[in-house]
Amino acid sequence: MPARPPLFDLLRKVMRTMKTSASLLILAGLVSAAFCMTGAFSGSHSGYTVAAVPAVRNAVAGPEAVEDSMHEFMEYVFQPTYRRLKVSMAAEPNDNKDWKAIKSDSLILAESCNLLFARLPAEDADDWAQHATASRTDGAALYQAAREKDFGKASSAYRAMLNNCNACHRQFENGKHILVP
Ligand code: HEC
Repeated sequence: MPARPPLFDLLRKVMRTMKTSASLLILAGLVSAAFCMTGAFSGSHSGYTVAAVPAVRNAVAGPEAVEDSMHEFMEYVFQPTYRRLKVSMAAEPNDNKDWKAIKSDSLILAESCNLLFARLPAEDADDWAQHATASRTDGAALYQAAREKDFGKASSAYRAMLNNCNACHRQFENGKHILVP
């Protein structure tokens, strides 16, 4: 038999490799199709894929200050709440209605402290954030004490909270608006 030209051998090798790659491609296709199907099924349980949620939410909405002025924000969100709380905290509550008033106002103040983080000043932002955190922590403690109807605990949390409100007023308002229990 005459020796096959080297080109023939080469062509055969190429054909064989192509067959193998083709089967690999088909296999890969099947595997990914299977993955897609399981993905679709698990997706239909929760209604969406986890990764898609934040992107979609960010595109639709996010926190945004309604009132840019810090003055108006304090005057209409913090001040009336503080004034009501001062009355409610003047004496131990008699009934559930009084406790509910304290729960409501302490929660409003504690949650409103979170909104201070969206209003960081150009200078000393870290100090500002610390005052906001401290006020929120004590506001949360007051809320918790009111849930437990523990007036002793509530009173000390209330005073601690006001100290932290005042700490921010001292630093950023030259000591104006010093609130008393
Ligand atoms: C991170 C800083 C910061 C914290 C914390 C803070 N405040 Fe203020 N507050 C301010 C600033 C700044 C002003 C002055 C706003 C202005 O008039 O421009 C102010 C003003 C006020 C005023 C006066 C509003 C007016 O119209 O005269 C009250 C009342 C007040 N804050 C209540 C509170 C209470 C209650 C807390 C705690 C639960 C609190 N603040 C926590 C920064 C803070």
